[in-house]
Amino acid sequence: MELKYKVLKALEEKRGQAVSGETLATEFNVSRSAIWKAVKSLRQQGIDITAGTNKGYVLAVDSNSLSSAGINAILGENRYIIETRKSVTSTNTILKEMAVQGADEYTVLVAEEQTLGRGRFGRRFESPKGTGIYLSILLKPKMKAEDALFITTSAAVAVANAVEALNKKPNSVKIKWVNDLFLDNRKICGILTEAAIDFESGGLEYAILGIGINISPSEEVNEKLSGIAGSIFKTDIPNSRNQLTAQILKQISKQLDNFGSKECLDEYRLRSFLDNKMVTVIGGETRYLARVVGIDDKARLVVQLESGDKKTISSGEVSLSLEV
Ligand code: BTN
Repeated sequence: MELKYKVLKALEEKRGQAVSGETLATEFNVSRSAIWKAVKSLRQQGIDITAGTNKGYVLAVDSNSLSSAGINAILGENRYIIETRKSVTSTNTILKEMAVQGADEYTVLVAEEQTLGRGRFGRRFESPKGTGIYLSILLKPKMKAEDALFITTSAAVAVANAVEALNKKPNSVKIKWVNDLFLDNRKICGILTEAAIDFESGGLEYAILGIGINISPSEEVNEKLSGIAGSIFKTDIPNSRNQLTAQILKQISKQLDNFGSKECLDEYRLRSFLDNKMVTVIGGETRYLARVVGIDDKARLVVQLESGDKKTISSGEVSLSLEV
C-alpha cells in the first residue's frame, strides 16, 4: 500500500485526535518529511487534515467527502483505478464515453451527485448531493451477452453484503428482482448494468455496472418518492461514503471470476423480497396479476397466474409493481 494510504488509514483509526509525525514515521519506517509529503498529497486531494505545531496531524472528525485516497486506504487492493467527482451528469454515461476511448477494465467513477442520473427503462434516478453515492465500474468479463444479467444479480448480492458490513445488521438487506435493494421495506439502492456487445463473437465487449445508493435521508428524494425510498442510516455518518464504496468494491472483487455462480444465485434467492408476494407484471401494453414463486437458474422470475399456470419472465421485458 502506498505511504499516503497507510498514513490516511492510521489517521482514520484515530479520527479527530492528533497523531504526531514522529509516531507515523516510526510506524512506517520512513522520515518525518516523507510523512509530511504524504499528508500534503492527501490534502491536495481534498482530505481535511489539519496540522498544529507540535501537535501532529488530525483528520477532521466529521468529514464525509469522497476521495480515491480515502477509498484506497480502506480497500487494501489495487485492482481498481478510482476517480471521484463532486458532481457529474451520470457516472454510467461518462464511464461509457471513457470505455469507448479505451479506459482500462476496473476503472471506477464515483460521484457525490448526479444531475442526470439514469435508471432502468429510461427512468430518472434521483441522485441528490450529500446523501448518497453514485458509482460505475467498467468491466470486461469473458461472457456471452445473454449472461449479462448475472452481472446485475451478482452486484446486488455484493452491495447487500457491503451495506451489512456497515450497518452491522446481518440479512437486513433484501433484493427486489432484479436490481433493487430494500432495507426495512424501503428502496435504498438501484443497479443499472449497460453492456456493449461484440457482434463477431457474440460476447460482451464491456459492461458498465452502475450502482446508486442512499446513505442518509434526503428531503429531495423523500418529496418525490415518499414512502418508497429509504436510506442505510438515519443521519450522516463520517467517512461513510468512502467506507461504503470500498466495501462494495471488495465484495464485487469476490464475484469477478464467477459472475452468476451457484452460491451467488442461492444467496440472491435467500434475499428475495418478492417471494410469495402478489405483483403486477407490466410489459408494453399488457399487465397482469401474478404470485411470485421463485427465481430460476438463469435469474429469471417465476410467477404463477390465477389460472395456476406458471410463467418465466426476463428482466428486459417487464417492470413490476408490488400489490400491497
Ligand atoms: C434503477 O433503480 O432503475 C437503477 C438505478 C441505477 C442508478 C445508478 S447511479 C450510478 C449509475 N449512473 C446512472 O446514471 N445510473 C446508475
